[in-house]
Amino acid sequence: MRIYETANYEEMSRKAANILSAQVILKPDCVLGLATGSTPIGTYDQLVEWYEKGDVDFSEVKTVNLDEYKGLTRDNDQSYYYFMHKHLFDRVNIKLENTNVPDGTEPDAEKECDRYEKLIESMGGVDIQLLGLGHNGHIGFNEPDSSFAKTTHCVNLTESTIEANKRFFASADDVPRQAYTMGIGTIMKAKKILLVVNGEAKADIVAKAFFGPVTPEVPASILQLHNDVVVVADRAALSKVPRQA
Ligand code: F6R
Repeated sequence: MRIYETANYEEMSRKAANILSAQVILKPDCVLGLATGSTPIGTYDQLVEWYEKGDVDFSEVKTVNLDEYKGLTRDNDQSYYYFMHKHLFDRVNIKLENTNVPDGTEPDAEKECDRYEKLIESMGGVDIQLLGLGHNGHIGFNEPDSSFAKTTHCVNLTESTIEANKRFFASADDVPRQAYTMGIGTIMKAKKILLVVNGEAKADIVAKAFFGPVTPEVPASILQLHNDVVVVADRAALSKVPRQA
């Protein structure tokens, strides 16, 4: 695991965008695994800026998103489909038929999760998976549990995740209670992983996830076992990692 420390959020975003654009330049028809949430917004903004300058071309890129709320329609401004269009897809020359987000409107969880897992396989797997980090160590919507979930599945969101996400909804009651998410096994199959994290509020979980024991109680800790992970974190997020004397 390689950890890059940056001075602040802007530098974190630029570094992450650099890594993603290098991937696109090296393999123009690559499969990018994408994430939503507040952390990667700056990364997407930076990619859009470089696209506008003519430095990155998304015309052959394919994407698969990590997760989606179950029950939200695509035009709901809190759906991850909506988020991806707003922050990236509608702003670059990606072909919309090459973008994929789990279908939150499919009520049959088994059917949708099976379709999504097979879709990723049929695309040849993910070349680089972008991840954020939840305050409880979740990645995608893989919440702390007694075992690691293997494939794309439907989850019941924990109270702490509902609490963290309620700022985007009118009230906590409006936050969906379930989501479709790639499993830990799906994420671990990505050839490369790029995790972005910033801010002091994530410092405890960064220390636990990347310097503590590997345990399903801290889902992101499994990334310690992946052979190609880059964490791009600002100084505040790294402020509690054990330092060598
Ligand atoms: C988003 C996702 C989540 C977020 C995590 C951090 O697709 O899967 O795991 O990455 O909740 O969210 P932020 O960046 O808002 O702190």
